[in-house]
Amino acid sequence: MNHKIAPSLLSADFLNLQRDVEMINNSDADWLHLDIMDGVFVPNISFGFPVLNALKDVCKKPMDVHLMIVEPQKFINEVAATGAYMMNVHYEACTHLHRTITAIREAGMKAGVTLNPHTPVSLLEDIIQELDMVLLMSVNPGYGGQRFIEHSVEKVKELKKLVDRKGLSTLIEVDGGVNAETGKRLVDAGADVLVAGNYVFKSPDPVETIRQLKAI
Ligand code: DX5
Ligand code: ZN
Repeated sequence: MNHKIAPSLLSADFLNLQRDVEMINNSDADWLHLDIMDGVFVPNISFGFPVLNALKDVCKKPMDVHLMIVEPQKFINEVAATGAYMMNVHYEACTHLHRTITAIREAGMKAGVTLNPHTPVSLLEDIIQELDMVLLMSVNPGYGGQRFIEHSVEKVKELKKLVDRKGLSTLIEVDGGVNAETGKRLVDAGADVLVAGNYVFKSPDPVETIRQLKAI
């Protein structure tokens, strides 16, 4: 299967968001990745629902929303109202993960669970069959432009084994420090979706950079 590319808007020019989203619309990107941070679950605050709702009418790609917030179950209806395709919640932020995943699907969205770098893949053993996607963090969440954590490649392999052993088609997404080099190793290891922030938006030709990531 061909892998997908999900540029992360966190690295876009916030004074020219419409221009940058239109660039994504006209690129080979498959999804637009949107990072919501609350300053509690992660040590940074990004943007929230007013921005997502403003993007809704401009963005032509499915929105892949990554909630780096505590108690994400409180915002399922708000995320659904933005027209989001995928809602990703952190494993570490959900006490009743099965209930939260069920509610996300009932709200009409695909459900993803995100693992921080220190959270083992094996903890998904009893929930993976309910998930449309697992998002593996390959940096500590909170900021764009950080260095790729090498162990992430092994985690992708382990997750791929778990998905195959259970006979599932759960997507594997990786987020943080992705470039052409780390991206190739991740795709070879079994990743289905690559998130890329700085590598796309800080490049001289983002459309061409997306095309190159897609061609890995
Ligand atoms: C980090 C975010 C990422 C971030 C990735 O907390 O979840 O989506 O935008 O940025 P890069 O690709 O620059 O590491
Ligand atoms: Zn993200």
